[in-house]
Amino acid sequence: MSHTKQQEHNGSTMDPQKIERVYTNYAGMYDQTFGKIMHQAREAAVIGLKVAPSERVLEVGVGTGLSLSLYPRNCEVVGIDLSLGMLEKAQKRLEEHQLGHVTLQRMDASQMEFSDDSFDTVMATYVVTAVPDYRPVISEMIRVCRPGGRIVMLNHFSNGNKFIAAVEKMISPMCAHIGFRTDLSLNTVLEGTSLMIARKEKVNPFRFWHLVECVNAKNGHNHS
Ligand SMILES: C[S@@+](CC[C@H](N)C(=O)[O-])C[C@H]1O[C@@H](n2cnc3c(N)ncnc32)[C@H](O)[C@@H]1O
Repeated sequence: MSHTKQQEHNGSTMDPQKIERVYTNYAGMYDQTFGKIMHQAREAAVIGLKVAPSERVLEVGVGTGLSLSLYPRNCEVVGIDLSLGMLEKAQKRLEEHQLGHVTLQRMDASQMEFSDDSFDTVMATYVVTAVPDYRPVISEMIRVCRPGGRIVMLNHFSNGNKFIAAVEKMISPMCAHIGFRTDLSLNTVLEGTSLMIARKEKVNPFRFWHLVECVNAKNGHNHS
């Protein structure tokens, strides 16, 4: 692997303890800051899923649970996160909105405790660039999603534009301090996986983020 590719894979200085600490400290103001700015796209992403009755959905890195009330009540949603502080906020939200179809678990997305093929849809909003290493997380998302199921990512992916890429790389180490990186491309994330892009849209704010819906084509299943 080239040096640049290696850096793109391992460019993160984050580790799980740091992520947990950063997000638990941040939990109190998350909804009013990042959570609020990014809500329009999160809302469009979840509503656009058109989740079917009885569908089993996994929300990876569920955070404070801002998307949870958007899922229909006739499906089943499991939310996982590393940060206890974020999960406590999500739990309060479940109680406030009486979301009996949602359960939460503290779990590392890179080592999930679910069996293979447990979910129809696996959703990750603003998570792929917020984890210490996206590779085990993507491979766990693929493992726990059934063949032909959906894997959906709402995320910022680094742009092919050289100027923007240079700016992104410059600001990435700073972003790492708040648990985020900006230098990861979608091609790098999907390379060598069984994921096939079914839909890709630019979304707000500034159409700088991407909503990417993939079919989990593992075991040769290339349709849902
Ligand atoms: C930017 S927040 C996004 C939260 C939420 N999905 C949203 O749309 O607001 C990223 C979340 O990923 C969680 N996270 C980071 N690494 C994780 C891991 N390895 N396993 C589970 N959750 C993780 C963080 O604790 C944080 O809650």
